[in-house]
Amino acid sequence: MDRQTVFSGLQPTGNVHLGNYLGALRNWVKLQDSYDCVYCVVDLHAITVDYDPKQFESDRLEAAKVLMATGIDPDRSLFYFQSQVPQHSELSWILGAMTPTGVLGRMTQYKDKVAKGEAANLGLFAYPVLMAADILLYHANLVPIGDDQRQHLELTRDLAERFNNRFGEVFPIPDALIPETTSRVMSLTDPTSKMSKTDPNDKSRVLILDSPDVVRKKIRSAVTDSDPDVRFDPAGKPGISNLLEIMSACTERSIDDLVEEYGSRGYGKFKDAVADAVIAALAPIRNAYENLDDEEVARIMRRGALDARTKAEGFQQIVREATGLAAL
Ligand code: TRP
Repeated sequence: MDRQTVFSGLQPTGNVHLGNYLGALRNWVKLQDSYDCVYCVVDLHAITVDYDPKQFESDRLEAAKVLMATGIDPDRSLFYFQSQVPQHSELSWILGAMTPTGVLGRMTQYKDKVAKGEAANLGLFAYPVLMAADILLYHANLVPIGDDQRQHLELTRDLAERFNNRFGEVFPIPDALIPETTSRVMSLTDPTSKMSKTDPNDKSRVLILDSPDVVRKKIRSAVTDSDPDVRFDPAGKPGISNLLEIMSACTERSIDDLVEEYGSRGYGKFKDAVADAVIAALAPIRNAYENLDDEEVARIMRRGALDARTKAEGFQQIVREATGLAAL
């Protein structure tokens, strides 16, 4: 059997943080050993909310560099900017023609963004259709995503089925891939909500490229509680439990093991150990990032886009034939 195809996308919105790394990117890197992976910097998704074009350009390059620094290997995986492969937009239009607007209006992420004051434009509304197109374009089988994207993947599966029923079997029905070690990294300043790119408080997250000093300061100031024991109790002690999860993910030691070592040594010692673990986990990434040359990365991304276009065009010809849109 052919190797299965994995597809995932990262928005180039800057602020790539420890939660992104431990919860997703680290797993993307591992998947390269077992699957044909397609990793896309989804810049078209990111322009559906207000943005500054100059800042965007540098965030876009930074996202590509961060992914490469974590270990995404452009020689093994298809790796490129979504906007450079027009087949994404073409398939998105075709799928959009069969997407009920009522379904899109019920998408949680859309409703949340509009409730938070984002303009309810067509791009934001159609965002999940473009995401479905990303995935189906390469006939992907597996899609590593976080919990917040499950609803979008459900829509993708529905659209694939709808398409297949109407036009013939073209698309495999993709499955979500939620990593075994789902490290759900929470905010350092409000450990009951997820670590987020958009939290206005910088101290709420450790960025992948933060210097060791900054990492240590942020971990030291992480919100905890006044009971002195280091114990895993997400409901009662969300701050300490989050730090235990983070340290466990960075060291690959079990939480029990960490509790045994740090249980009664006080929060100060424990936080220092967490900081050491995070700094050690991020050091190779920072190092690799600093050794990347912008021009060279740009060249790699152009080459990736060329390869992706070739591959996507082959698949799109099948879609065009099935839908009556083939070249005459
Ligand atoms: N919507 C995803 C997110 O915000 C990004 C994304 C776009 C994506 N296209 C995708 C993820 C396709 C997986 C597959 O995280």
